[in-house]
Amino acid sequence: MNNQNVIKKRSKAYTLCYIAVAVLTVLIVGCIVAAIVIGTLNTGVNPTEYSLKINGEETDALKNENGTVMVNIDKLTELLDLTKSGEAATPKYSNSLGDYVKFVNGESYAYVRDAFSASEMKVNLPAAVTANRETCLVPLDTVSAIFSGISVTVDGPSISINRRLVTGSTTKYEKVEIRAKSSDPLSMVLELTPIMEQYEKFLNPADRDAFLILANKENPLGSSYAPDDLVDLKSMEGYGDEQIVNDGAPNSQMRLYAANALKAMILQLRSEEYVNIFAQSGYRTYEYQENLFEKYVAEEMEKDSSLTRAEAEEIVLTYSAKPGTSEHQTGLCIDLIDDRYNTLENPFTKKLGMEWLAENAWKFGFILRYPEGAEDITGYSYESWHFRYVGRYHAERITALGITLEEYLEDYYGK
Ligand code: DAL
Ligand code: ZN
Repeated sequence: MNNQNVIKKRSKAYTLCYIAVAVLTVLIVGCIVAAIVIGTLNTGVNPTEYSLKINGEETDALKNENGTVMVNIDKLTELLDLTKSGEAATPKYSNSLGDYVKFVNGESYAYVRDAFSASEMKVNLPAAVTANRETCLVPLDTVSAIFSGISVTVDGPSISINRRLVTGSTTKYEKVEIRAKSSDPLSMVLELTPIMEQYEKFLNPADRDAFLILANKENPLGSSYAPDDLVDLKSMEGYGDEQIVNDGAPNSQMRLYAANALKAMILQLRSEEYVNIFAQSGYRTYEYQENLFEKYVAEEMEKDSSLTRAEAEEIVLTYSAKPGTSEHQTGLCIDLIDDRYNTLENPFTKKLGMEWLAENAWKFGFILRYPEGAEDITGYSYESWHFRYVGRYHAERITALGITLEEYLEDYYGK
């Protein structure tokens, strides 16, 4: 190696060293600056003393525990319309809607039952709760995540919790609902399969009250009622080779929104491995129902020849509607069937995906229309196969409340 080469090599090595030192210096200075900035921000958002205004009133309900803002929920019961019960270490806060949240002293979770998830759900909290006789400190984040109908604003050390006002013909406070975040129906549905996204507008219609038609013994539709947006489910079988209508099914029409929602629900059933469920009977004309009802009356009289026509009708009326009163004439309901059994009988259908549907159909805008034990209200025996489309908003509430469409329209809806 000659001298020149050695010098060249050396100067290359020096240059690399300079670059390394420069990069390190930039990194170190950057880290110091970042630490200062973060530190400043931290002191900005995590002061030791907070002030809390609840609907404008100054309170002492806040505490800073290792940088987490904790709120004494006992001071919020009035604002949130909550009733406290349970033991000091496991307090439960309920509202008049039947929602509740239960905390456990020392634990970073809570149990939430809301009108949207029919069962109690365990939700994780960002910090452990301190619950004793005097106080129940929960993270501020929990308050904003679990209670809807309030607004929580953090402005440096000043925090405000306000009940939201709804202005209409009169001004009133919005209902405070307790919600388990993970039960957000939209995310649940969209998580099912990406293909559901294209059905979303049918599952959760923008005109959410458009499908609340009530057809029962007391509310007949009459002989001339017929919806004008019927579509044939068979024409919607174009997702892969998916067949959604049972072979030989007599009534394969439904109204546009209900038909699309049904298709989405059946696709989901398939992905849940309930592959044998098909649509059997959707929209029925007045005349079809007339013939069906007559057929059932004749069958009852054949089974028991001592029955009068009136007695036979009385029996049939527990499971089949007189023409003009059937929900099938709305085009919004469907009888589903398992093609391995090809019969609509609860003992068969109940096990085979119908239980999954009873729990999950609301996500697709459907409700189990004739539940067990509600014969006196609906007028019909339990039908594990009959699902009625109302749109997700109402289906969710009806399912969560565990009530019938009759009760919902009478007691809850619009109140
Ligand atoms: N099976 C139901 C009640 C109907 O006939 O409409
Ligand atoms: Zn039916």
